[in-house]
Amino acid sequence: MVIRSGVTYAVNSFAEDVRDGLGRSGQKELPSKYLYDDVGSALFEVITKLPEYGLTRAEERILRRHAEAIAERLASHGIVVELGSGSGRKTRGILQALAHHQPTTYCPIEISSTALESCERELDDLPQVNILGFETEYLDGLCRAVARRGLGEGVVVLFLGSSIGNFDRGPGEDFLRKIREALEPGDALLLGTDLEKPLAQLIPAYDDSLGVTAVFNSNLLARINRELGGDFHLSRFEHVALYNARERRIEMHLRSVESQTVFIEGANFRTTLERDETIWTESCHKYGRQEAPKMAERAGFECVAQWVDNEWAFAENLFIAV
Ligand SMILES: C[S@@+](CC[C@H](N)C(=O)[O-])C[C@H]1O[C@@H](n2cnc3c(N)ncnc32)[C@H](O)[C@@H]1O
Repeated sequence: MVIRSGVTYAVNSFAEDVRDGLGRSGQKELPSKYLYDDVGSALFEVITKLPEYGLTRAEERILRRHAEAIAERLASHGIVVELGSGSGRKTRGILQALAHHQPTTYCPIEISSTALESCERELDDLPQVNILGFETEYLDGLCRAVARRGLGEGVVVLFLGSSIGNFDRGPGEDFLRKIREALEPGDALLLGTDLEKPLAQLIPAYDDSLGVTAVFNSNLLARINRELGGDFHLSRFEHVALYNARERRIEMHLRSVESQTVFIEGANFRTTLERDETIWTESCHKYGRQEAPKMAERAGFECVAQWVDNEWAFAENLFIAV
């Protein structure tokens, strides 16, 4: 059964965030959460199937192999909250395993209505699983989902796909702390983190040979044109995926191939880009194996298990709130 909670995501804030990010005197920037509209969410699904993007398959392998072991440790956790569920494809096995132990309420939290709808469709047939989706931001959704807990019922939060890597390291740790604050001792967090790996493997994952990631990236400008009446010419930008070794992260940018002025009517905003100037659209931080457990410990969790994929360096970490 699927129930949908009300939409709280404010579309007006898109215009404000665009004005704020493109109006900066230094590096221009757009928040990566805006990559995921209808088109962006569909393109992300394609990216997860590309041969170069091993991350999703690695996490799928870990979850398939260890779903039972994870569920056994979470025998009293009847509420599963997934932050940024995407299509929910990866979550099926873990929900099935948890629902063997007790009836389960699954709360996907999504900013993208397309992703939320496909997640609800994907998992609707699972017996013993009620789905209660929230179309909203991560922490708002988490608090609203946790408020539904029954007496003695535990909560497990899933934050998969290394989405934590979209935060800078300090803010990522702060985010874990905010998750912890929303939880009770004994609640759990299953966190997927992509590990450091050779650049020959990493760069193509964000700059694939078919050019899907490039389209995913430039769709952000197309979205501004569609929703805010922008006049970006997409052919005047190129996709860039670079590795920032100091910060240990992939950065995605859109590089202006000529000097140009852009007007965004719905934001009542005009900006100029120099030739070769970039708009930074996403960061994907990469981690040492012990890094996420240490961050989580400082945020108030204990690491009780970690599984690592052998083919693509990726870690699934199980934390319990202390
Ligand atoms: C990188 S995708 C990962 C999807 C899925 N968890 C996976 O592992 O394949 C990130 C997802 O989080 C959603 N998202 C991004 N920022 C969000 C935010 N601030 N609040 C809620 N959802 C968000 C996006 O719409 C997208 O579906």
